Order: sequence, then structure tokens, then C-alpha cells
Amino acid sequence: MRLILLGPPGVGKGTQAQFLLDKLNAIQLSTGDLLRAAVRQGTKLGKTAKSYMDRGELVPDDVILGLIREKMAELSNRAVIFDGFPRTVPQAVGLDSLLKEFNLKVDRVIELTIDDEVVVNRLGARRSCPTCGRVYNLISAPPKKAGICDEEGTALILRDDDKEAVIRNRLKVYHELTAPLSEYYRKTGNLVQVAGDGKVEEIRARVEKALEE
Ligand code: AP5
Repeated sequence: MRLILLGPPGVGKGTQAQFLLDKLNAIQLSTGDLLRAAVRQGTKLGKTAKSYMDRGELVPDDVILGLIREKMAELSNRAVIFDGFPRTVPQAVGLDSLLKEFNLKVDRVIELTIDDEVVVNRLGARRSCPTCGRVYNLISAPPKKAGICDEEGTALILRDDDKEAVIRNRLKVYHELTAPLSEYYRKTGNLVQVAGDGKVEEIRARVEKALEE
């Protein structure tokens, strides 16, 4: 199973991917997480990516496709949840052709939809653990002790790109460059749209139903 979770920043792709990992016995491939790890490690990729990420712009397609190609051998014999990839039509075309080399294809695309203003509120309240990566929300999913990760005891951080001006640019970029993927995947017959507004568990149930369709 190769599942793509499509949708704007902050719609809950990462949150829902976590629920699906066991259900599908899958691995999650988040290009955002891979890029943030490269930034933390100070690699050449990380240095290139940081300037784009801090502005809420997309990292160039050739860089992203190179990253996916490197991962392809380990992805080819596992169920994969793509989270935040592809993000442009050229990335989708590139993924199709990479998968074809391994006699694979995209099986299902779940597009989570939401209003921009809900995203701005959600992301302003997101905090994450720099050690284990667990994601919290000050409003909908707060840690037990304010500002501290339940698992690691580490101080939680606000992502550099979760500042309002950057969030708004990420949304603008999403509407210009990523939203056309909805049409791309509608044509393949693989797309199911799921409303991303509501409680996390409600959305989980909608996503699970969409997978059965
Ligand atoms: P990336 O890390 O992929 O960010 P994103 O797509 O903008 O997605 P987010 O991680 O912000 O949100 P999400 O949908 O996963 O929501 P989450 O579950 O965390 O990309 C970051 C940057 O990297 C990009 O801007 C770009 O520069 C670069 N990049 C990455 N991939 C790229 C690519 N393929 N090509 C080019 N550039 C790329 O939830 C958000 C918050 O809401 C959390 O606090 C969560 O707890 C909370 N929440 C979740 N669900 C609910 C709910 N139902 N109700 C209330 N709160 C909720």
C-alpha cells in the first residue's frame, strides 16, 4: 500500500499518519521531518533547505526527488504513508516514475481539507519535542506539564515556520503549487477527500472509512 496524505499545512497529516502506521503496518515518510533532521545535523541538504523552509517556500523539486530516490530501496518492500510529499505536480510525476521502476504505484490519496483560518490558529498553538519529535497542541492536545514533553521531559519548541507571517505564506504556496494535485489524483481515480475540521478522533474515523472505500 502506498498512501499519500495530501492537504494544507496544519490540517493534521502528521497526526493522522501516526494512527495509520500500526493499522497498515506502514512506515511514514515525511519530507518535512527529513528536511528538519538535515537542518539539525547541519548537512549540505539542511543548509539548502533551511532558507526555503524559514520563508515558507518549497524546497526545489530536484532536491526533494533526490531525497525520495535515496529512500526508494528501503521503501519498495514496505507499505508507505507519504506525508507532505508530493507537493507539486512535477513531484507527483517524479514519484509515479520512481514507483514504476519498482513495479509499484500510488494506491490511495486522502486529501484532508480545512479553512485557512483554522490552520493559522492550530499552527500557532503547535509545540513539538526536539528530542522525540512528538507533536502537541496548546489547545487541542496539551502536554501534562506546561511546556514539557510527556515522554522526554524536554522543553517543547515552536517550529521556526509556525510564526503567523510564515504560516500565511505556506498557505499561499499551498494554494498555488500543491492544490493542483487534487485534480492530478482525481484523474487517476485514487483521490478521496476528507474534512479535516473537528476532533482528532472524528477525523481518524473519517480517514479509516475513506481507506475502506
Ligand atoms: P512539513 O513539515 O511537511 O509541513 P506542512 O505540510 O506544512 O505540514 P505540517 O507539519 O505543518 O502540518 P500537518 O498537516 O502534519 O499537521 P499536524 O498533524 O502537525 O513541511 C515544512 C516545510 O518543509 C515546507 O514549508 C517546505 O519548506 C519544506 N518541505 C517539506 N516537504 C516538501 C516537499 N515535498 N517539497 C518541497 N518542500 C517541502 O497538526 C498541526 C497541529 O494541529 C498540531 O499541533 C496538532 O496537534 C494539531 N491538530 C491536528 N489535528 C487536529 C484537530 N483535528 N483539531 C485540533 N488540533 C489538531
